[in-house]
Amino acid sequence: MSRVPVAILISGSGSNMAALVADMEDRAHPARPCVVISNRPEVAGLARAARAGVPAVALDHRAFPDRAGFEAALDRELDRAGAEIICLAGFMRVLTPDFVTRREGRILNIHPSILPLFPGLDTHARVLAAGMAVHGATVHEVTPELDCGPIRGQAVIPVLPGDTPATLAKRLLPAEHRLYPAVLRRFAAGDRTPLALFP
Ligand code: GAR
Repeated sequence: MSRVPVAILISGSGSNMAALVADMEDRAHPARPCVVISNRPEVAGLARAARAGVPAVALDHRAFPDRAGFEAALDRELDRAGAEIICLAGFMRVLTPDFVTRREGRILNIHPSILPLFPGLDTHARVLAAGMAVHGATVHEVTPELDCGPIRGQAVIPVLPGDTPATLAKRLLPAEHRLYPAVLRRFAAGDRTPLALFP
């Protein structure tokens, strides 16, 4: 069985990337990690990927004059690695409609809210400000409109008395680490049914 090559794009600590890579250590997984790329050369996630035996590439977006230049270099790295699926895992650069359209249906993102509620940034603070009783994460396909593509899985957690944005973010991460690998397994096998995970 040939396994689908997956590229993982990060901008931070890469805990979701690590969860995806760990799950793909199972030889029966329909996908395998082919490269981890970070637009921030200094992040811990790159060393983490290298330690896990995955080629790790730093592609500093500040070294390019514009988005198109950065994305052309990104395209080259993805092609070189033979990536067929791209997982955005805490990747904090907006991709242009041109880039996304060329790879539509093959890019997944994890977003820290129950979409379509709270697209964009600062989701944990906005969930608290709205008085929500639940919070969660969504894995969705990436389309040109930010945080709007077809939902492929969601995990929910309770909001507890005394929660702060920091405690909510911390409690959500383990749910993200269960959700993203589970969705990628189904997605790589061609299953587009949305997955629901409860605490
Ligand atoms: C995760 O909580 C992820 O949902 C969020 O960034 C964090 C990355 O953590 N993503 C976004 O906010 C995307 N807009 P990680 O680097 O430890 O995986």
